Amino acid sequence: MNERVVLSAEGLVKRWPNGRVALQGASLSIHQNEVLAIVGANGCGKSTLLSILAGLESIDAGTMRFDGVSVRLPRQHGRLSTSDEQALCAYRTRVGLVFQNESLFPHFSVGVNCAIGPRYGAHRGGCLGAREAADRARAALARVGMQDFFAHRVTELSGGQQQRVAIARALANEPEVLLLDEPTSALDPQRTREIGALVRDLASARAMTLVVVTHDLQLTRDIADRVALIHEGRVEFVGKTAAFFSGRDASVARFLDAEQTNESTSRHPSTGEEICRSKPL
Ligand SMILES: Nc1ncnc2c1ncn2[C@@H]1O[C@H](COP(=O)(O)OP(=O)(O)OP(=O)(O)O)[C@@H](O)[C@H]1O
Ligand SMILES: [Mg+2]
Repeated sequence: MNERVVLSAEGLVKRWPNGRVALQGASLSIHQNEVLAIVGANGCGKSTLLSILAGLESIDAGTMRFDGVSVRLPRQHGRLSTSDEQALCAYRTRVGLVFQNESLFPHFSVGVNCAIGPRYGAHRGGCLGAREAADRARAALARVGMQDFFAHRVTELSGGQQQRVAIARALANEPEVLLLDEPTSALDPQRTREIGALVRDLASARAMTLVVVTHDLQLTRDIADRVALIHEGRVEFVGKTAAFFSGRDASVARFLDAEQTNESTSRHPSTGEEICRSKPL
């Protein structure tokens, strides 16, 4: 594995305007071309961290570096200088984020959704011409098996297809680092398997750095080089996947225990009886 650090965050603190502190000193280094899985309980700050890494949120404290160069993010209630604002826009073209919840433009076609970034400047090469942007969109859609849906409306697609298009939209910008926020959540088991296979393909191509937030421990085991565990806004563990699943780290062991309990017991939707779904990790 390439040990060169491509993106690093140090001591990130994020307090939302409603007073919720989502990150309280999170630090993380991401290596070039690795697949890093980020896990943690609901509400621990995973999505907040990805939004900040993507350059889309202000912070209250902390620093970030990309390729060793400082990335200046706005502070809450603060503004960036014009040159820092421009640098941040350039930074955003290097890091793509596929959001946890639906984020496609529903009134546009699949093709327009994927071409809009390359056409209007989210692409590293700057704004491309309409034809070239459409070509990028087609190529990205082909990578996720959605090439036949170029002219379809987003609203005509299933949840799994929309998730593929969301991934294609990020790929069309050819980011160096792709952040995927729970790519398999909110899908039925069949779609979860399909998107899981797609993420595995992207991971095995090793063409970019991939950061995947997931609750799917099997996917984590299959694709991740390293795993980071977030607990209450801090990165409590980061290490090789084998070390993570060995459970030798006390906070990882607590997390795995809690996950196993969640997975192995749940309540019957109508009777409320506890049912066992024992699913070995
Ligand atoms: N836009 C927001 N405004 C206010 N509070 C927020 C906002 N987004 C997230 N939070 C809060 O910040 C904390 C971290 O949220 P975040 O979405 O990062 O968690 P998460 O780890 O991604 O959870 P999940 O696994 O449920 O997706 C939570 O307490 C959440 O309620
Ligand atoms: Mg989240």
